[in-house]
Amino acid sequence: MGHPSAARPDRRSVIAGAVLLPTMSAFPRPGRAREARPAAEPLLVGSSNALGGMEEGHARLVRGEPGLDVVIDVVSAVEADPEDTSVGLGGLPNEDGVVQLDAACMDGATHNAGSVAALENILHPARVARLVMERTDHCLLVGKGAYEFARMHGHEHVDLLTEKAREAWLRWRETMSTRDDRLPPPAGKEDEKTGWIPGLGDPAADSFPRHGTTHCSALSRAGDVACTTTTSGLAFKVPGRVGDSPLIGCGLYCEAGSGSAGATGRGESAILANASSAVVALLRAGAHPRDAGLEVMSRIVEQTRLQAAWQPGLLDEKGIPSFGLELYALDTEGRFAGVTLRGKDREFAVANADGARLEPLETLF
Ligand code: GLY
Repeated sequence: MGHPSAARPDRRSVIAGAVLLPTMSAFPRPGRAREARPAAEPLLVGSSNALGGMEEGHARLVRGEPGLDVVIDVVSAVEADPEDTSVGLGGLPNEDGVVQLDAACMDGATHNAGSVAALENILHPARVARLVMERTDHCLLVGKGAYEFARMHGHEHVDLLTEKAREAWLRWRETMSTRDDRLPPPAGKEDEKTGWIPGLGDPAADSFPRHGTTHCSALSRAGDVACTTTTSGLAFKVPGRVGDSPLIGCGLYCEAGSGSAGATGRGESAILANASSAVVALLRAGAHPRDAGLEVMSRIVEQTRLQAAWQPGLLDEKGIPSFGLELYALDTEGRFAGVTLRGKDREFAVANADGARLEPLETLF
C-alpha cells in the first residue's frame, strides 16, 4: 500500500503544478527589474490634457529625477487649471453641486500605491494620494477621512466650484426633468446659456461630455515606471460615486520590468475590466502597448454587450459602445501607445527624445 500523500497529491499542488507553474514560467518575472539595467530613454505618456507639463517633465527625467515626482507635477498643473472641467479646480460637480475628486498614484520601483476618493475642497488630490502611499500603511482613503488627512498634512481648504462649473450644474439641474419645479432660463436666453462652457457645449444636451480625467505614466532614466491619474469624475454624478481613477488596476497600474498604463473616460467600464492591470499583464507577456491596449478595448466591447442586456443605452444603434474610453501605455523598452474605444481625430500626449507632442489615438471604431 503506497503512502496516501505520495499517491494522491492534494488539490492545491495539482493546481500549482498543472496550471500556475507552466503559466508563470512562460512569462518574464517582475523580479528581473532588480537586475542591473542599462539607462532607459526617458518617456512620458498620458491624456492630451497632460501635455502642458510634459516638456519640462521630460527634461527632469533626462536629468535623472524619479518618475513619480515628475508625473505628479505634470497632473498638478491640470488640477490647478480652472479651465479644465474634468479635473481638480473647475471640475464639474456632483448632483448636489459639490466637487468630489478621485486620484491615485503608483510607484513601480516599490510596487506601492496610494489613492483618495470623494475628496472635497483639496486642490491637489494626486499629492494627497502620494501621502497616503508614503505616510500610511493604507492604499485608499475616502471622503471626510481623506480630507482630514490632507488638512493634517498642510493642504489648504479650497472652494473648487468655479462660476463656470456652477452655472453648468445649474443648467443641468434646471433641465433634467419637466416634472420638478425648477425652470430653465426664459426663451430667448437659451443661446446665451448654451455658450456658458465654450468648447464643451450645453450641459442640458445628450451629447454633453460627462467624462474626463488626466493620466500620466513615466519611464525614468533608471528604468523605473510610475503613474498617476486624477479626476473630478463623472459630471453630475450621484454623490459618493467613485470611478476608476483611484482604483489601483483600473484607472492606473504599473509594474517594475513590465510597464505602466492608465485610463480616462467611462470609469465603470475600466473598473469592470480591471483595464490598466489587464494592459500591464499583456505588456509583461511581451505585447506592444498598442496591441495590449486594443486587446483590452476589445474585451471591454464584449463585456459591454453583456451589460447592455440590462442597460441598452451603453450601445449605440450600430451595437458599438456609446461612451468614450481611452487607454495609455508604455513599456520598459520605451514603446508606447494611446488607444480609444471610439472617435477619430482624438489625441494623446507623449514626451521623449523627439519632444513633447500630441499623437493620434489608435481607435477601435
Ligand atoms: N474615468 C474617470 C471616471 O469615470 O470617474
